[in-house]
Amino acid sequence: MVRAFVGDSTITRLFGIGAQLTPPGVAMSISAVVSPPLVTVAMVSKYIALEGVDGSGKSTVAQALVARLIASGETAILVREPGGTALGEVVRGLLLDSERLDDWAEVFLFAAQRSELAREVISPALESGTWVVSDRSYYSSITYQGRGRGLGEDKVRAINEIGLDGVVPDHVFVLDVEPELALSRQEDPDRIGREGVEFQSAVRASYRGLANAEDKVVLLDGSLSADEMASKILEIVR
Ligand code: TYD
Repeated sequence: MVRAFVGDSTITRLFGIGAQLTPPGVAMSISAVVSPPLVTVAMVSKYIALEGVDGSGKSTVAQALVARLIASGETAILVREPGGTALGEVVRGLLLDSERLDDWAEVFLFAAQRSELAREVISPALESGTWVVSDRSYYSSITYQGRGRGLGEDKVRAINEIGLDGVVPDHVFVLDVEPELALSRQEDPDRIGREGVEFQSAVRASYRGLANAEDKVVLLDGSLSADEMASKILEIVR
């Protein structure tokens, strides 16, 4: 089996080169085309993150997506952030239930749980060819802490990327919903969800900026049904 490092765009290029060099009908071994460092190249682009403001409905879409992948014979897991490991669930409580938290402490707690989740759960799943659908990712930290809290999107991105060590989503789908509408759907908002419309509007603007700047960040019309969104996502990722 051809194996690739997660999120490494050079892999795509290398596959491209391989395809050109291989005559039709001849099976290609990637290790014959590529020189030594690329011995274990794996699966391509199976890490999908769902993003959006609080109440945007991403959890429902994430569940629909995993169900559809499994129904089509794939292996897929659903993870959530913050959470997903024993430490992650404890940190989730600290992050969402504390009365108050220093802004930078918030950044580092999100980053700490995420780093463990990446190494203990996401990376092994991807290595075994399993799809990973994540309800939030470090893009939430970039938007919520970087823009919402005003700490700086680049700084927050950099802090997170240190701990992730390349285990980053291949696709980021943002459910684009008016914050007023999204918040009105929330029955029992958590500490960050209680920040209000202005905060969530900054978060939304940040997501939109990221979608403009990065090809892998795609905005989805939040008025579609969860099933319609899952179909759109599958069209793009497969
Ligand atoms: P989540 O459980 O996804 O809540 P919801 O389903 O209501 O959107 O996320 C919990 C809260 O944590 C939510 O307000 C978004 C916030 N959050 C951040 O501020 N930064 C992060 O990095 C993550 C992952 C979440």
